[in-house]
Amino acid sequence: MTVKFSIERSKKEDAPGIIKLVNDESKRSGAVLRISEHDVSKWRKSGFSIVAKAQGGQIIGHLSAYIWPESKWIEFRSSVVKPQYRGNGINSSLTKKMMELVSKKYKNSTLVAFTNKAGAGQGTLLSVGFTEADYNTLPEELFSIGPKYRGKKEFGYKIFTYFGKF
Ligand SMILES: CC(C)(COP(=O)(O)OP(=O)(O)OC[C@H]1O[C@@H](n2cnc3c(N)ncnc32)[C@H](O)[C@@H]1OP(=O)(O)O)[C@@H](O)C(=O)NCCC(=O)NCCS
Repeated sequence: MTVKFSIERSKKEDAPGIIKLVNDESKRSGAVLRISEHDVSKWRKSGFSIVAKAQGGQIIGHLSAYIWPESKWIEFRSSVVKPQYRGNGINSSLTKKMMELVSKKYKNSTLVAFTNKAGAGQGTLLSVGFTEADYNTLPEELFSIGPKYRGKKEFGYKIFTYFGKF
């Protein structure tokens, strides 16, 4: 089945759909952190919150980017595609679109993304130019959220970075 979808910047009224999509996945697999209305509003204001919508407008995918205050590294976060829509290139499209949005605003920036022990999302990150990074080289502030083992190799987590000169 070919799924038709569109990628667009999140609107205010998309917030409940985004929160449900991400928090349902958080509960189901623990692959992503729980999010709140405050998170979505912050990402939307920075312009780095995008959604994939099916025909009819249902939110079936989401990706945001968070700018860390000290290092200014930009973290791709909360990438989720609704289970029944996976494998259709939706996350790949969201990731490419986010890189385009970031590159328009920042000429030089370091992008970072975490994948968990299930490893989902790695193929897409590698295909768009991210490479695996050693977590010891990351700014400390990136570990101030989430479980204390966030990103640590011994728990199977991996970190990917993209040193962008757009
Ligand atoms: C990770 C996740 C967002 C991927 O969404 P998706 O829309 O199925 O991803 P795509 O269809 O773009 O890509 C699926 C795989 O096929 C490959 N692929 C790339 N381009 C593709 C395309 N045009 N068509 C189909 N497959 C493609 C990729 O290698 C990818 O592997 P990956 O999961 O290692 O990245 C989804 O599995 C999910 O929501 N998982 C739970 C949350 C999660 O783990 N998020 C990752 C952050 S830790």
